[in-house]
This record gives sequence, C-alpha cells and structure tokens, in this order.
Amino acid sequence: MKKFPWTLILAGITLVLAIALIGVLLYLKNQPPVRRGIAPLVEIASMEADSAKWGENFPNQYASLLKTAANDTKTTYGGSLKYSKLEADPRLLILFAGYPFSKEYNEDRGHLNALADVRAIKRINEKSPATCYSCKSSDNPKLWSEMGMAAYDKTLFSDMTPKINNSIGCANCHEADTMRLIVTNPALEEALKAQGKDWRSFTRQEMRTVVCANCHVEYYFAGEGKYLTFPWEKGTRIENIAAYYQEEGFKDWEYPDAKTPMIKMQHPEYEFYTADSTHYKAGVACADCHMPYTRDGAAKYSSHDVHSPLLNPEVACGQCHTDVAYVTARVGTIQQQVSTTMLAAEDALVEAIDAIKAAAASSTANAAALDEARQLHREAQLRWDFIAAENSMGFHNPEEALRILADATNLARQAQIKALQAAGTVALLNR
Ligand code: HEC
Ligand code: HEC
Ligand code: HEC
Ligand code: HEC
Repeated sequence: MKKFPWTLILAGITLVLAIALIGVLLYLKNQPPVRRGIAPLVEIASMEADSAKWGENFPNQYASLLKTAANDTKTTYGGSLKYSKLEADPRLLILFAGYPFSKEYNEDRGHLNALADVRAIKRINEKSPATCYSCKSSDNPKLWSEMGMAAYDKTLFSDMTPKINNSIGCANCHEADTMRLIVTNPALEEALKAQGKDWRSFTRQEMRTVVCANCHVEYYFAGEGKYLTFPWEKGTRIENIAAYYQEEGFKDWEYPDAKTPMIKMQHPEYEFYTADSTHYKAGVACADCHMPYTRDGAAKYSSHDVHSPLLNPEVACGQCHTDVAYVTARVGTIQQQVSTTMLAAEDALVEAIDAIKAAAASSTANAAALDEARQLHREAQLRWDFIAAENSMGFHNPEEALRILADATNLARQAQIKALQAAGTVALLNR
C-alpha cells in the first residue's frame, strides 16, 4: 500500500498559510493610518474651532498644519510667497477695471494665513458681506449650524469679525468624533444635492478630493442676502457654468465704458481637475499630491502642510512615478505652454475691450451688433478667467486648459470684429 503523502499535504498547508499571512501583512501595511482602539487623550467637542485642541490627540497632523503659516517659497507659477499678480501682469488692471480685483490681487499661500489675508485685502470694504469669511475659518461650521447659512451671509463682514478667531483648521474637513472627512460647507452640500449626489455615499478616495471642494471651487453670492452658491446646477464644466450664469441673468460687475455684464471666476480647482483630467480618471485625489503620507519614526500620517507639490516632488509624485525628474520637467513644459496661450488670450481680450469702448462711445453705433460684441466679451473673459483664477497654471488638466483658452481667444477676436462692425469701422457682414 502506498503511504498517504502527509508531508506533502503539510507542506502545502504551510505554504497556503504563509501566503495568506503575507497577504494580511501587506494589506495592513497599505491601510491608512488610524488610531485603532486607542482611546482619545482628550474629548474633542463637535465642530471645535480651535485646532490646538484636536492637536493634543493628533500632534503630527497639527504640527504639519502649523507649517503652512510660515511657508514662503516661490515656484515659477505658484508657491507660497505672497506677491502682487497685478504687478506681475499689468494686463489684469485692464481686464478687471471697475472691479475690486484691480485694487489688490495676490498669489495664494498656506491655510493658516487665510484669515489674516482676507482681513488685509483691499477688496474688502464696509459693505462686504460675512460670506467672504466662508472659506477662511474653522469657526464657520459651528456658526453655520447655530445661525444657518442664510443668516450668516446676510451679516456684514465687519459684524462677523468678532466671532471669527481661527484660520482654516481641522473642523473645516473632519468630523470630531469619527475623524472622517466630511462636507462642512452648506453651499457644497446644496450644490451636490442639486446634481442628485449625496457625499455620504462617496468612497474614501472620492472624499480625499471632495473635501477640498468645500473651498477650492467657483462660487457667487446670490441675491440681496449674498447667499453663497456654487453654479453647478447644469454641471461643472465651464460651458455648464456659463450657461447657468446666463440663465440667472447674473453679473459680478459692469465693465466701465464698454458696459459688458461681467463674471469674475474664483478658484475652480475642483471643477477643473474633475473635468476628466488624466490624474482624476486614474483615480488620483487632491490629497495624494498635496497631502502625501509622511513618516515620523513608526508613525505614518498625511502631511497637513498643504502647498505646491513642486517643493517636495519625491514624496508628492514619487509615490506613483519612478522618474520624478521627468514628471516635474513635464509640469514646467505644460505650465509654460499654458502661460503663453493665456497671455495671447489676454491680449485678444484687451483689444476687444478697446474696440467695444470705442463703439459704445459712438452715437451712430449699431446697437444690436454692439450687444453681440458685449456678449462675446463676457463669454471670452469668463473662460480665460476660469483658467487664470485656477491655481495650477493648467497642470491639473492640461488639455482642458488649452481647449478653454483657445475658445477664449477665438471669442475675444469675434467680440473685437463685432465691435468694429458696430462702430462702422469694418462693414457689417450678413451671416
Ligand atoms: C497629480 C498631482 C496633483 C493633484 C491630483 C492635484 N494637484 Fe494641485 N497642484 C499640483 C501641481 C504640480 C501644482 C503646481 C504647483 C506650482 O506651480 O508650484 C498644483 C497647484 C495647486 C494649487 C496652487 C498651489 C500654489 O503653489 O499656489 C492649488 C490651490 C491646488 N493645486 C489645489 C488642488 C486641488 C483642490 C486639487 C483637487 C481638486 C488638486 N490640487 C489636485 C499637483 C496636483
Ligand atoms: C476651508 C476652506 C479650504 C479648504 C477645505 C481647503 N482649502 Fe486650500 N486654501 C484655502 C484658502 C482660502 C487658501 C489661500 C490662503 C491664503 O492665500 O491666505 C488656500 C490655499 C491652498 C493652497 C496654496 C498653498 C500655498 O502655500 O501656496 C493649496 C495647495 C491648497 N489650498 C490645497 C488644498 C487642498 C488639496 C485641499 C483639500 C485637501 C484644500 N486646499 C482644502 C481654503 C481651503
Ligand atoms: C483641508 C482639509 C483638512 C484639514 C484642515 C485637516 N485635515 Fe486631517 N486629513 C485631511 C485629509 C484629506 C486626510 C486624509 C484622509 C484619508 O486618507 O481618508 C486627513 C487625515 C487625517 C487623519 C487620519 C490619519 C492621517 O494622517 O492620514 C487625522 C488623524 C487627521 N487628518 C487629523 C487632523 C487634525 C488634528 C487637523 C487639525 C489640526 C486636521 N486633520 C486638519 C484633510 C484635512
Ligand atoms: C496616486 C498616484 C499618482 C501621483 C501621486 C501622481 N501621479 Fe502623475 N500619473 C498617475 C497616473 C496613474 C498617470 C497616468 C499614467 C498612464 O496612464 O500611463 C499619471 C500621469 C502623469 C503624467 C502624464 C500625463 C499625461 O497626460 O500624459 C504626468 C506629467 C504626471 N503624471 C505628473 C505628475 C506629477 C508632477 C506628480 C506630483 C505632483 C504626480 N504626477 C503625482 C499617478 C499619479
């Protein structure tokens, strides 16, 4: 009788167990760092505005957030050094004439400066609403839940000032008792709902992008109550946003002399990035590049020192790309190309504005053609501004940037021709 192959079977079982163990270990290694089963050192109140209190339980995250206050390194098109965009590109003085952005407009910097910067900016005056505080402070989630956002937005900026004591902090992104990422801005909650979306059903990876949309989005102040609203009802592409504003009959200001009803874009990083960019489609989140995992001894945590990834590309890009020098050089090439294309759009806009002003000053101008020129100017400038106000100089979505800028230049040149036709400088063609 043949001996039953016990040793072979034993070896087989051992091998299966060993593979399973390696699998489990690999799985655990790749899990996000969480404090499993460790009782919190201190109880954090719901919507606690003071990040230092949260910091007692999470010292690494807090210490890295604190670094955003002092960062001041400049990159070619970004970085944390506060400098005047108006001095860097004087065309902006013409493009924003008659609007507060022509008074002061600076490069953005770290999260802990948000409050000081909004209080110092010349764009704020005695009539500004508290809505301008919406993206600057960890005091907001509590204030919104106590007052309701409508009452908050109806308050004057100056009257809200005593209630706002903290810059951006933990309460803007986390729920205190679970530490999960949440939507804290009621305007984001409403904008998602208008599209039939509920963030509570989003995956963790989706939340690592959506949490930034609490602030890094295009928005406007709707109606007399200055109600914070994201123009997303028709979608988040620039064409959807333009169509929304057109239907609402909304304008941020009227361009002096030209009398064009203008739209100012804010900082649409979320809309721009999620418009089918290569990285977004590959499942990469904002936090992957801007909050990479960092090690401190045995502890692994997400760096809360949010800034330009070009200042730490080995960590920010190297987690996925082996050739970090190559991909960072690509960023430079992309940004330079987008910048050149953007300046061409600006030149076209400036010439369109001159032509519309001249036509508007003439008593014999063709009114219908002049109105068409104004509409083209509005559409051209809001497209250019969507890319200009977005803070990555096109990197977040290079193809989309060049597509939109090409449209902007084309529309601006059409506006210029229409205005010349309206003024009789060029014959009106019947098309
Ligand atoms: C694939 C990596 C990557 C992803 C994903 C990403 N970014 Fe960026 N981001 C960059 C790079 C690179 C820059 C350009 C930095 C520079 O020019 O110095 C940038 C620039 C920025 C800036 C301006 C930084 C500065 O220095 O002024 C902001 C704000 C920003 N990103 C926010 C976001 C948000 C919000 C998201 C998600 C919606 C996002 N980013 C997704 C890589 C990324
Ligand atoms: C509560 C609002 C808010 C949230 C949420 C928020 N940001 Fe910001 N972010 C701001 C503001 C405001 C600034 C500009 C501050 C300034 O210039 O004083 C800023 C600046 C930045 C900068 C530029 C920093 C620098 O040093 O130049 C980057 C990059 C950035 N944010 C990325 C992100 C990412 C990624 C997320 C999501 C993980 C995020 N932000 C979430 C409001 C927010
Ligand atoms: C701008 C939004 C934002 C702010 C402000 C913020 N966090 Fe986070 N935090 C994140 C994101 C994004 C992650 C990654 C979450 C994930 O991967 O699920 C994270 C992760 C964490 C984690 C999980 C462990 C880790 O490091 O990945 C802890 C704990 C944490 N944050 C604590 C804090 C504390 C404490 C503060 C205030 C001092 C704070 N966070 C402020 C966005 C933020
Ligand atoms: C979480 C993973 C991840 C991170 C972090 C990441 N990337 Fe990528 N990146 C990808 C993936 C996936 C692709 C698509 C690659 C492909 O399809 O071959 C990609 C593609 C690219 C491309 C080619 C894009 C194109 O359209 O051809 C460039 C350039 C690039 N990444 C630059 C960067 C830079 C710079 C950083 C850091 C600021 C970065 N990436 C961070 C995953 C990542």
